[in-house]
This record gives sequence, structure tokens and C-alpha cells, in this order.
Amino acid sequence: MKLSSVISARFDTPDSQSIETYRKDGGYETYLQVLKGEKGSPDDIVAAIKASGLRGRGGAGFSTGMKWSFVPKNVDKPKYLCVNGDESEPGTFKDRQILEFDPHALIEGVGITCWTIGAERGYIYLRCEFKKGIATVQKAIDEAYAAGLFGEDVQGSGRTIHVSLTVGAGAYICGEETSLLNSIEGVRPYPRNKPPFPAVEGLFGCPTIINNVETITNIPHIVKRGAEWYAGLGCKDDPGSRLWCVSGHVKRPGVYEAETGFRLQELIDEHCGGMRGGKKLKCVIPGGSSSKVLLPDEVAQVTMDTPGIRKFGSSLGSAGIIVLDEDTCMVDAVLNLMKFYAHESCGQCTPCREGTPWVVQVLQRIRDGKGRLVDLELLDDIAKNMEGRTVCALADGACWPLTSILKKFRHEFVAKIPGAEKGAREVATA
Ligand SMILES: Cc1cc2nc3c(=O)[nH]c(=O)nc-3n(C[C@H](O)[C@H](O)[C@H](O)COP(=O)(O)O)c2cc1C
Ligand code: SF4
Repeated sequence: MKLSSVISARFDTPDSQSIETYRKDGGYETYLQVLKGEKGSPDDIVAAIKASGLRGRGGAGFSTGMKWSFVPKNVDKPKYLCVNGDESEPGTFKDRQILEFDPHALIEGVGITCWTIGAERGYIYLRCEFKKGIATVQKAIDEAYAAGLFGEDVQGSGRTIHVSLTVGAGAYICGEETSLLNSIEGVRPYPRNKPPFPAVEGLFGCPTIINNVETITNIPHIVKRGAEWYAGLGCKDDPGSRLWCVSGHVKRPGVYEAETGFRLQELIDEHCGGMRGGKKLKCVIPGGSSSKVLLPDEVAQVTMDTPGIRKFGSSLGSAGIIVLDEDTCMVDAVLNLMKFYAHESCGQCTPCREGTPWVVQVLQRIRDGKGRLVDLELLDDIAKNMEGRTVCALADGACWPLTSILKKFRHEFVAKIPGAEKGAREVATA
């Protein structure tokens, strides 16, 4: 398989973060054309983003153009764009590369998107741990203002477009889009019930679009080179070029850019150098930790695009590919993941607040050799009572790796339960 370079094209350019090198590479030309109306009306740009087939890169994979079209036109309220740079999903570390190596591409995307959706301000929301990213993006924002690219009546366009940075305190839940809005508003970041959806009633009760950093960084490329060009990259039903984060037991973990539709096995073997220490592959969690696990025969067949991965019951999520080798204890692995979800649950809904630590408790006793066979049914039952019953998708995201690992690696759990090999269901019910 071939790697590609759309989003990452400038990552290796010396001084890639400065406005001088960005403009030398043609940066901000598209934004200036947009401001002059040379790229069509806002409706034309929304139509182009729809036609490009771009799906959100934050996890849910929703059509970006479709989302933008939900912003109401005739409301007497300000509109906002919020860029989600919380990047909190375990196994995901791609947005960070954009922030640190091509901040102006993101900021140009913010300018074009604000003009298109009629927003007067774009907030870039970053987690506080991203010290380098925060400093780099802030410097780039300052440079963009100094160059007259943001502000009132920007470039004589009659439009006010501002861009600013908001730094969160570093909680997983702040990556959930409505929680992020509450965090920007300065109130407790509980996710909000939907509807109303943020496109209609979002930040400060005003129409708001929330998009991931990588999603917005795609915008200048699509507006510059056309929807047809983008729609022709990778898989027809889920096109584009994406940043894939590979972590775990491969020889060369890292961020790889490739068009959708490639074979996962080829990425692991050809570009990541295969398995570390010549070990065998045990499984892959392919879309950040909140996705269902794939076994080696599934990894060998799956193509990395939405329809391709759906065939195997999983999802691309945030493109965080976690590769585990034969030495991994799956009871330990899932316990580790579930501790994360229990810790990060905001506590607003009972199934998630009570369910996630309960799962940890049960897994811990299985791991400690004190489990009962009935605990495996209990874990499935707790998951059934969490999934689809909460305000946000954190609880669903905990259930997907849990139930798929329990199903596909049941033997590893059973092996840790005293007396279970003898088929002693009595042990379980005693
Ligand atoms: C618990 C939780 C955490 C999330 N964390 C992130 C995140 O760190 N970054 C992100 O872009 N989206 C995250 N999302 C998804 C967002 O809610 C939202 O779908 C996304 O920012 C929309 O942008 P997109 O359409 O460009 O993908 C998270 C969702 C949930 C439920
Ligand atoms: S599902 Fe969990 S994290 Fe999401 S709102 Fe409910 S308690 Fe909070």
C-alpha cells in the first residue's frame, strides 16, 4: 500500500509553523479568495464540502457538509465554530501533529469555515497537556492577526471573523462536543441532552458547528482543489486521506497518512515494520479504544474505510489503531481500559456512573483469581444496561471494547476463574 501526504505534506518542511513559510507554500491564498467571494457563495462551499464526501475525523464520522447545512440562516444570533482539539481518545495522537507542525493550515480552515457558516468567531479548544501545541497555535494566531487575516471587516470583506484559543483542564469528557461547549462557557462540563443539536442551539445558546482539528484542516485543501479531487481519494463511499495513529506492539509505531480503503494488515507489515520482537499478532483495536476488537483473520481481510470495517462489526472512530501481540493478557488489557472509562465518567447518568466502576470491580476479581463464571454474564448484563441509555456516548464507548473482548477472548477470562475448566457452573452460582 502507498502512503499519501495531503494533511501531512508540510510536516517535514523546515520552520513549517511560521506564517512566512506557510504563505510561501501558497497558504492563505484560498482563504483570501473565499473572503472576496471568488470561491462562490457560502451555499456553494457547503455543497462542495458535502460533495467531497468528507466525514468528521473526531470519531463519529458524520458528513461535514451535511452538519454545516443544519446551521439556520435567518436567526438573529451570533454563530460560532468550535474546533475540537481535546484529542482524548486512548490511542489517538494525530491532531497533535497538526497543531505542532502545521498550525496555519488549521487556522486557514477556521477562517474559511467561519465565513461559510456565518460565524463571527472560531474557538480552538485544546487540552492543557498539549503545551507545545498551545504555544505553537497561539503564536500562529498572533501572526495571522498581525497579517490582517482576522478581525473586524477582515480584508474589506464586511465580515468580522475572530479566532481564539481555549485551553481545557484535560478531561476525556471535554472532548464530547456539548461538554466542550460547557467548558468554553466556563460551567461544569457535563454533556448536554440532544436535541437541541449544537448547530441550532450550541455555544451560549447560539448556532454552533463543532468539528475536529483534522476535519477543519481538510477544508482549505478541498476548497482549493475541488470536491471532485477529494471524492476521488481512497474509498468511494468514505473518501479522503486520513492520519492513522498506530500504537502498541509494532516495530514502528507512529502517525501514517494514507487514503482510506487500504488493507490494515499491509499498514502493519509494510510501514510499521510488522510485530515487535517477531511476536504473533493477537488482536487490533482499530478506531481508538472505543471500538470493537478485531482478530488476526479479520485484520488480514479488513479494509480501512467505513463500509469495510463495518463488515467486521467495528468502526474507524478516531483512527487510533492499537496493535496487541500474543503475550498480551486480554483480562489485563480490558481492565486497564475500563479503569480509564470509570475514571473519566462525568457521573451525570446512573448507568455510566455506577456501571463503569462496577465493571472494573468484577474484572478486578476475575484478574485476581477470585471470579465466578456468572461474572461473565454479569459483565454482559451491566454493558446491556449502559449501552444506549446515557446522555453521551462515553458509556457506549466503554461497552464496545468490553463486550467484543469478552466474546472473542472468553477462554482467557474462563482460564482465570477457579474451577471453571471443570465446567463447574455450580461454582458460579454458589
Ligand atoms: C467521551 C467522548 C470523547 C470525545 N473526544 C473527542 C476528542 O477528543 N476529539 C474530537 O474531535 N472528538 C471527540 N469526540 C467526538 C465529538 O463529540 C464530536 O463528535 C466531534 O468533535 C465532531 O467533529 P467531527 O464531525 O469533525 O468529527 C468525543 C466524543 C465522546 C462521546
Ligand atoms: S454517559 Fe457517562 S460521561 Fe456521558 S454524560 Fe453520562 S455519566 Fe457523563
